Amino acid sequence: MQIQIDQARLTSELQTLATFTDAEPVSDGTSVTRVVFSSDDLRARAWLQELATAEGFEICDDAVGNIFIRWTGTEPHLPAVATGSHTDAIPHAGMYDGTVGVLGGLEAMRALKRSGLRPRRSIELVMFTSEEPTRFGIGCLGSRLISGTLDPFRADAMQDKEEATLAAVRTTAGFSGTLSSVRLPADYYHAWLELHIEQGPLLEREGIPIGIVTSIAAPAGYRFTITGFGGHAGALLMPDRKDALCAAAELILSVEKHALATGAIDTVATVGTCDVHPGAVNSVPSRVVLQLDIRDTDPVRRESVMQSIRQDCEQLRQHRKAAITEELVNADVPAQSSPHIIQLLETVCTEQSIQYKKMVSRAYHDSLFMARIAPIAMIFIPCRNGVSHRPDEYAAPADTTLGVHLLASVLAKLALE
Ligand code: GLV
Ligand code: MN
Ligand code: MN
Repeated sequence: MQIQIDQARLTSELQTLATFTDAEPVSDGTSVTRVVFSSDDLRARAWLQELATAEGFEICDDAVGNIFIRWTGTEPHLPAVATGSHTDAIPHAGMYDGTVGVLGGLEAMRALKRSGLRPRRSIELVMFTSEEPTRFGIGCLGSRLISGTLDPFRADAMQDKEEATLAAVRTTAGFSGTLSSVRLPADYYHAWLELHIEQGPLLEREGIPIGIVTSIAAPAGYRFTITGFGGHAGALLMPDRKDALCAAAELILSVEKHALATGAIDTVATVGTCDVHPGAVNSVPSRVVLQLDIRDTDPVRRESVMQSIRQDCEQLRQHRKAAITEELVNADVPAQSSPHIIQLLETVCTEQSIQYKKMVSRAYHDSLFMARIAPIAMIFIPCRNGVSHRPDEYAAPADTTLGVHLLASVLAKLALE
């Protein structure tokens, strides 16, 4: 069986997908923003479905807008083998995060078809809704619902910044039906394998073209609301102030301090958004909402960092005289890859003399949740300077092609099991 990846076509499709962007690129000229259910997200979805239709694959979607593209095997009743990722992009991101797994997955299926493979199990490509938390504040919406990790009623009630609920937004986008129907049973997939850029520097630094992911670190998200006392920036005297943004600044530094204090390279914590009310240059901030993203390979250590942050909050309440509330958005557990799929990946790499490295994924992925219903693994390819979530994110076509080739080779083996 000869698997040949059409590198020129895949490169051109990645570039086309990057043209579906909600916001005009700012100064860099290349950034991509594609927020779930924006008009460009919907255009990207329609375009992907056109590509799949042209190949004769079957397409369906679910109530949250996850898209399933299926090549039916010779024994269609068997649990399918699946791959995929996401096409949504955070504001001013690059063009490879997630898209390599979706368009690369499609190219892997096309290449297997061209090779003459007759898969026993169906092979399915999944494009997940809202892997990125941009709109509703929680990542992996589609895969959380597929795996039964997120309560469907809580999901439907979640609101975006304009206070539109997921229920309303998805219905307007054309995805109705009850969210509880999105969940898939634990034996639905025989195996799950996701291709993704590394989003870190290790592969490039070590000159290794392939990463085999052995585990995925566990993310957690919290929302802190700090309420002080606002007023006129000229007239409210300094000794009388309870400035919510000053308290927030101390809280942000406390997050950094405690994440560093573990001494573990796997502990990371970020405050990535800060909404200041009323947000006027001549008004003392009265309320601030911070979103905290904290991750670790060890959820116990992650929780101990949270405890230290909470102790600092208690002191801030006293000395800043601010009210601080904490809301849990999500606290997930790490996922382990399947030894069987890792073994298949290693075998193919060895047979094809491909150098690889076993590694941890510090970024989260839909695979984190697919692990709850299927044996999973991930393939990483290098990205330039380890950069991701930035416009200058870049994966070389040759690396992408190698990743897709490995993906196709292992999907073929899994589909014949
Ligand atoms: C995914 O985008 C992540 O933030 O890890
Ligand atoms: Mn991302
Ligand atoms: Mn991603």
